[in-house]
Amino acid sequence: MKDNLLKENRRAFLKGGLALGGLALLNPQKAISGPINNQVEEFKIIAGPYLQTNFGNGISILWITSKDSASWVEYGESPDKLEKKAYGKSDLGLKPAGRLNCVKLINLKPGVSYYYKIVSKEIKDFQPYKLTYGETISGVTASFLNTNVAKDEVSFVMMNDIHDRPKSIAHLLDLDKGNKRDFVFFNGDVFDYQTDEKQLIDHMIQPCVDYFAKTIPFVYVRGNHETRGKFAREFADYFDHVGYTAFTLGPVRFVILDTGEDKEDSHPVYAGIVDFDLYREEQAAWLELEISRKEFKNASFRVVMMHIPPRYSGDAHGAVHCTALFEPIMNKGKVDLVLSGHTHEYKVHNPDKKLNNYPIIIGGGPKDGTRTLTKVTANKKQLQVSMLDDSGKEVGSYLISRK
Ligand SMILES: [Fe+2]
Repeated sequence: MKDNLLKENRRAFLKGGLALGGLALLNPQKAISGPINNQVEEFKIIAGPYLQTNFGNGISILWITSKDSASWVEYGESPDKLEKKAYGKSDLGLKPAGRLNCVKLINLKPGVSYYYKIVSKEIKDFQPYKLTYGETISGVTASFLNTNVAKDEVSFVMMNDIHDRPKSIAHLLDLDKGNKRDFVFFNGDVFDYQTDEKQLIDHMIQPCVDYFAKTIPFVYVRGNHETRGKFAREFADYFDHVGYTAFTLGPVRFVILDTGEDKEDSHPVYAGIVDFDLYREEQAAWLELEISRKEFKNASFRVVMMHIPPRYSGDAHGAVHCTALFEPIMNKGKVDLVLSGHTHEYKVHNPDKKLNNYPIIIGGGPKDGTRTLTKVTANKKQLQVSMLDDSGKEVGSYLISRK
C-alpha cells in the first residue's frame, strides 16, 4: 500500500515536471515566475493590515500575503483576549483562499475599542482531495475604535491628487499631527494610472499602513486617473470599496460619487473599453433616490465628495456631464458642501443662486507648494472646513452654520 502510494507520488511528480517543461517551452516566463518561484519565495504578509469602513458598526480589515492562504482575524475588546474569529466573505459556499484578504467584522459595539490580529495559513499545495498547509503567520495586535455613528461631532481630513508621490501622504498628515480623526478620505488620483500591485502597495497602501491605516480607517473614491492603465481592472480588488456610496456619521450624511473619466468614452486613448457615461447616469438615478431618503433629509449637513467637481473644472466631457447630471439633483436635495479635486489648483467656490447652490471646495496638488490637506469638522450646529497648503498655511476656509 505504502509502496503503491510512493509510486503514485513519483508518477505525479514526473507528470508535473513534464507538464512544467511543456509550459516552459510554450511560455518560459510563466513557468519561471510560477511554481518554481513559489517554492523559494517566503510566505509573508507583504502589506497591511489596513482598515476601511462605511460606519455601520462594521470594519473591513485588509492585508496582502505573498502566497495563497486561508486567513482570518482574531479580535476582542481586550488585547489579551482575542476570543472572536472572523473570516473573509464566502462566495458560493467557498471561503476565500487567495492572497488579497478582506475580513469584515460586523455587529460591533458603538464607541468601543477593539483589538485585532490578522492570521494567514499558507496553502502550500492545493490538490482536489488534499490541501497541504504550510506555515501560519500573524500580524501584531493592533486596535481601532468602532466609531459611534450617533456621536455629536465628526471630523476627517481629505487628500486628493497625490499622483504617485507617496511621500505626500505622510507630509500632509504631519500637518494634522495630534488630532484624532474619524477617517481619512482620499478623493481620487492617488496614482497617475494603474500599473501593478507593487505600485498600489508602495505608493499608497504601505504609506497608509505606516502612518495610520492599522488604527484609523480610510474612505477612498477613484479619480479619473485610477481608471487608467493595464491594472485598473484589478485595482478594486485591493480595497473594500472604491466606488459610489453614502453613509451617515454623526450629524453628517456623506455621499460619494465616482465621477469616472474626463474625456468621452469614445476617445481613442480608452480604445473602446470604458463606459463612464452609463456609470454616471446610473449614479444620477441613485442620487435622485438618495436625496429622498430620510437619512439624507434628516441630516444636519449633507456633504458630497467627488473627484471631478460638479462645476469649475473646464469643458471636458466628463466635467460637463457631471454638471448636467448631478448639479440639478444636488440643488434639489439642498446639498451643503461639495469637496473635490481634479483641477490641481486649490480653490473655494462660493455658492451661486443660479448655478451651484452650495460651496465647492477643491483641493490642490500634486506638486510641492500646491498640495493641500483639507480638514473638516462638524457638529449639529456648524460645519467648518479649513484647507492647508503643504507648508501648513491655511489657504481656504468655509463655515456653514445651522440657524
Ligand atoms: Fe489629478
